[in-house]
Amino acid sequence: MIENDIDLQPHNTLAISAHSAFFARVETLEQLREALAFARDRSLPILPLGGGSNIVLTGDYPGLVIQVDLRGFSIRSDNSGHILEAAAGENWHRIVMATVQGELGGLENLALIPGKIGAAPIQNIGAYGVELCDRFVSLQAMEIASGELRNFAAKDCSFSYRDSVFKGKLRDKYIITQVNLCLPKKWQAHIDYPALSQYVAGQNWNVDRLTPSQVAQAVIDIRNSKLPLPDKIPNAGSFFKNPIVDTHSYLNLKAEHPDLVAFAAGDCWKLAAGWLIDRAGWRGVRRDAVGVHELQALVLVNPGRGAGAEVTRLAEDIAEDVHAKFGVSLEPEPRYYP
Ligand code: FAD
Ligand code: EPU
Repeated sequence: MIENDIDLQPHNTLAISAHSAFFARVETLEQLREALAFARDRSLPILPLGGGSNIVLTGDYPGLVIQVDLRGFSIRSDNSGHILEAAAGENWHRIVMATVQGELGGLENLALIPGKIGAAPIQNIGAYGVELCDRFVSLQAMEIASGELRNFAAKDCSFSYRDSVFKGKLRDKYIITQVNLCLPKKWQAHIDYPALSQYVAGQNWNVDRLTPSQVAQAVIDIRNSKLPLPDKIPNAGSFFKNPIVDTHSYLNLKAEHPDLVAFAAGDCWKLAAGWLIDRAGWRGVRRDAVGVHELQALVLVNPGRGAGAEVTRLAEDIAEDVHAKFGVSLEPEPRYYP
């Protein structure tokens, strides 16, 4: 069941070639427990892998990569709403489309996000005005140290923008095995996100009677118009988080750059990192194997299938330049391994 020296290139959407000392694909909780015991006996670090769409391999991985391939999902209704329970290895977009095709609303804004549902809580995936935490009920996870299963309610997960307890206090402590969501019984379309409201306004649709399928189609069309498909142009989606700054900093920047794109986020402001990178002159730049996507400057691409170091060097240069020009720090969104 455990393989040696596996090239991870087919297992990450940046298509970086890097070898894993050990690799296991697990389809059952028992296999997962055995894989954890194997790593424990040899004091190996563990990399739980979904679709590999939010990682950057900066070199060979000296531990055990566990591809979480637990399958199965179900939807039932109770008083609170439509309860969706899915094993961690289910493809996120396939689940979204299954709900939409069943005329259940609630996940349509999150259509076409690559990866598996088991990774969705790690960074609390979000798009077009909706985040996973808006639909989240609970998850089940296996503790790496003991192999024991534990349930986490929403309040245990400390979700925030692109963040959760699994990137903080509980980083590398658990492998998520199941995710449970609740879709509302009374659905309402969320189309406030500027690109989405503009798209809908351009259709011949009755905005008072939108369906989840229409919103999903809008999201898919918008995404396809600017985000590269990893199969065609390797990438990891947004390479940096949108930086959050206080009102004072925002107003100073806005005075200097009146066309700055920013969204209110509580007492603070979320700046569009894509705008900052674009304005700094990086959109469409190509450097050897890697580059900056020409339609979305927040997306770094790896068309020449270069090494992780090429990607991270480019990212560092962009972040340094944006800091020099705007005084704003950019933090990478994908996690670097090892
Ligand atoms: P991986 O890349 O395999 O893993 C990501 C992290 O989660 C790693 O640290 C990994 O160890 C950990 N992990 C994975 N599975 C488990 C598990 N079962 N238990 C514990 N830890 C685990 N993200 C958004 O939020 N919004 C977007 O709109 C969006 N658009 C994207 C568009 C493109 C073209 C691409 C390539 C990426 C995009 N992303 C987006 C990022 C990415 O798709 C999400 O973060 C997704 O949830 C990652 O899923 P994955 O299965 O590929 O995770
Ligand atoms: N912009 C530019 N130039 C660019 C890119 C963007 O001026 O090169 C401007 C756009 O014109 C727009 C604004 O920046 O006014 C925001 O752009 P966009 O709507 O494309 O969204 P984003 O902030 O770049 C975020 C998420 C995406 C998510 C979309 C939709 C982060 C880090 N990224 O991107 O998530 O799909 O919003 O909600 O929050 C991901 O996390 O991997 C990801 C793709």
